[in-house]
Amino acid sequence: MKMTIVQICENFIFVQLLTSDLLSQNMIIGSTSTTTATAVGAMTELVKNSRIMKKVQEEIRSLSGEKEVLDEDDVQKFPYFKAVVKETLRLYPPAPLLVPRETKEKLVIDGYEIPAKTIIYVNGWAIQRDPEAWEDAEEFIPERFLNSSVDLRGQDFCFIPFGAGRRMCPGLHMGLASLDVILSNLLYSFDWELVEGTETNDTGSTVLPGLTHDKKNPFRVLAKCRN
Ligand code: HEM
Repeated sequence: MKMTIVQICENFIFVQLLTSDLLSQNMIIGSTSTTTATAVGAMTELVKNSRIMKKVQEEIRSLSGEKEVLDEDDVQKFPYFKAVVKETLRLYPPAPLLVPRETKEKLVIDGYEIPAKTIIYVNGWAIQRDPEAWEDAEEFIPERFLNSSVDLRGQDFCFIPFGAGRRMCPGLHMGLASLDVILSNLLYSFDWELVEGTETNDTGSTVLPGLTHDKKNPFRVLAKCRN
């Protein structure tokens, strides 16, 4: 893959992809929007839930010592933070319909006959909000993942933010590591509040149409350096 990197201003670098290589394109699309959409989902829930924000910041700040910047190893010490990330991926799966599949042969599911070569979309978003699988399914409750064996690696079919099976996300480890580092540092270094005048419904979860789960309404928060 060829790339040209154009610096537009001091802090903004534009990467232009000169490629028709589908795999490279998928890697770029798969890696960028998914991670940012999940981080935005987490911040949206945390500014709405001051109890959870306080609890996760206290955990991070009390267990970090006086480090300037947290890294991946630090994050392994934060069980509540990890639960916040999982709960965010449950309510805001950034690729809610996974990637499409095609049936190889005719099959019957729940009495419905599915012909061979049917394109199948798996609705991960609905599965992860299914009230039969999740108590208070629409609520953001990270505690549900503490002392729970439900994992996100495609083995528990009620929780598939990275998909499952042979087509499951190849960027799982990189995606989780990026999320851990980005989100933990945002919570460690800053206190957050909604920008004055922002309507409460700007923190709603209405999303734009598209492959990934990007918020429709802009999300505006004020970051204050922690004392
Ligand atoms: C929070 C981060 C991420 C989440 C939640 C996520 C989620 C997903 C999901 C649900 C799928 C579809 C899997 C399936 O249908 O079973 C997928 C596919 C994919 N992801 Fe990710 N992803 C993330 C980060 C990344 C990163 C960092 C990369 C690359 C470095 C990446 C590359 C890809 C690619 C290339 C595919 C397509 C695989 C295929 O076509 O078979 N993803 N991702």
